[in-house]
Amino acid sequence: MEKRESIHGQWSSRWVFVLAATGSAVGLGNIWKFPYITGENGGGAFVLVYLLCIAVIGVPTMMAEIMLGRRGRRSPINTMRHLAEEEGRNGAWKYLGWAGVAAGFLILSYYSVIAGWALAYFFRTAAGVFTGQTADGVGSIFSSLISDPERLITWHTIFMVMTTVVVARGVKGGLEKAVRYLMPALFILLIILVGYAMNTGAFQQGLEFLFTPNFDKITADGVLIAMGHAFFTLSLGMGAIMVYGSYLPQKASIAKTTVMIAIADTVVALLAGMAIFPIVFANGLEPGAGPGLIFQTLPIAFGQMPGGELFGSIFFMLLVFAAWSSAISLIEPMVAYQVENMGMNRIKAASWTGMTAWLLGLATVFSFNIWSEVKPLSMFETFADKTIFDLLDYLTSNIMLPLGGLLIALFAAWQMSRASSLDELAMKDGFFFKVWRVLIRYVTPVAVSIVFLNAIGLISIG
Ligand code: PHE
Repeated sequence: MEKRESIHGQWSSRWVFVLAATGSAVGLGNIWKFPYITGENGGGAFVLVYLLCIAVIGVPTMMAEIMLGRRGRRSPINTMRHLAEEEGRNGAWKYLGWAGVAAGFLILSYYSVIAGWALAYFFRTAAGVFTGQTADGVGSIFSSLISDPERLITWHTIFMVMTTVVVARGVKGGLEKAVRYLMPALFILLIILVGYAMNTGAFQQGLEFLFTPNFDKITADGVLIAMGHAFFTLSLGMGAIMVYGSYLPQKASIAKTTVMIAIADTVVALLAGMAIFPIVFANGLEPGAGPGLIFQTLPIAFGQMPGGELFGSIFFMLLVFAAWSSAISLIEPMVAYQVENMGMNRIKAASWTGMTAWLLGLATVFSFNIWSEVKPLSMFETFADKTIFDLLDYLTSNIMLPLGGLLIALFAAWQMSRASSLDELAMKDGFFFKVWRVLIRYVTPVAVSIVFLNAIGLISIG
């Protein structure tokens, strides 16, 4: 087949792709979300399920998503439409692209609000607000931030504008360079924080919480959350990685790049957990404190360690960058589509998309204050105490992304010919290709389906 090129351009090299995709994968999911959902779901067993999901579902699905993107070389909607046509399949596959666009919008709407918290914390740490504070003091600083809608809206707005500006300039602009330095820097700061955690006196306890699996503590819903998080943290199931794959140079090895991205992402999440839980236990805090967990724990460390104001502000700045490089991948599929089909330029497309997501984000802002008692699905037991933000997160991470990922896997495995896959992955028809085929054809679809059915109570395992 003659090889296509994307009208939006191409990454300058396979390394740039690895950086960009790692930039998409490593974000709030690793540092904010992973620790708090681990805390809420009892620790070790949850972490083990999550790691298993990364290895047997996440890695093969990521390969499939990059493969489809590179073969289609268009926005996910057009890629799905085109590949379905090329492989002689049903045109309805393009709706998978649309579902991804919808998930991206919903995720960005709350992602930007939480990234706004990190922005606010950058300034607070730099100003020395946490210096010498007790755990209680740090907790009340957090509460006063989230109970103030005006402040939250300000930070949310700033973050959304940052995201829109970068997307408007094209993915190859500034961020490509920024990611190159900022990701390694984030990594080093996390290691410094783990070093601090080693001296809290509760390091052992933190590690046990993270790594000793106690299966009594995990529920069917917990397994679904672990699997949903595997998709979320690797940016899978909505087209973000597919659209990045569409800019990947033809020669690059999809299998090798995928493994690198998955390892980097997992290591960052585990380091975050190893930094946070010792601080939680040393200060008698609750591991299940919820979305505020890192904002109520890490500032304690920064308030006590020498140079904490400097380290702390650098840390939150890097967290903002990590969130930034993820956020741009959330709207890139939509923006690429608007450029391809609606005759818009990137600036206009990014502005519309950013504005819509911003508006939706207000629902999340209010979930933490004036609407904190609004529980739209209180008639269902599982959702009884979930706010609008909780529901948005649940719907996207635990339903839309796994379902999107499942369909991507099914398309790659059963609708695309073996020959097309071999050609696009550029692998030898040997052991690794066969393992991938088995994982993507059987293991991923069956595992995702079982976890779903188990969570809604149609079957019961364990
Ligand atoms: N992977 C990102 C994170 O962990 C979030 C994300 C999800 C980005 C889906 C793109 C698509 O923070």
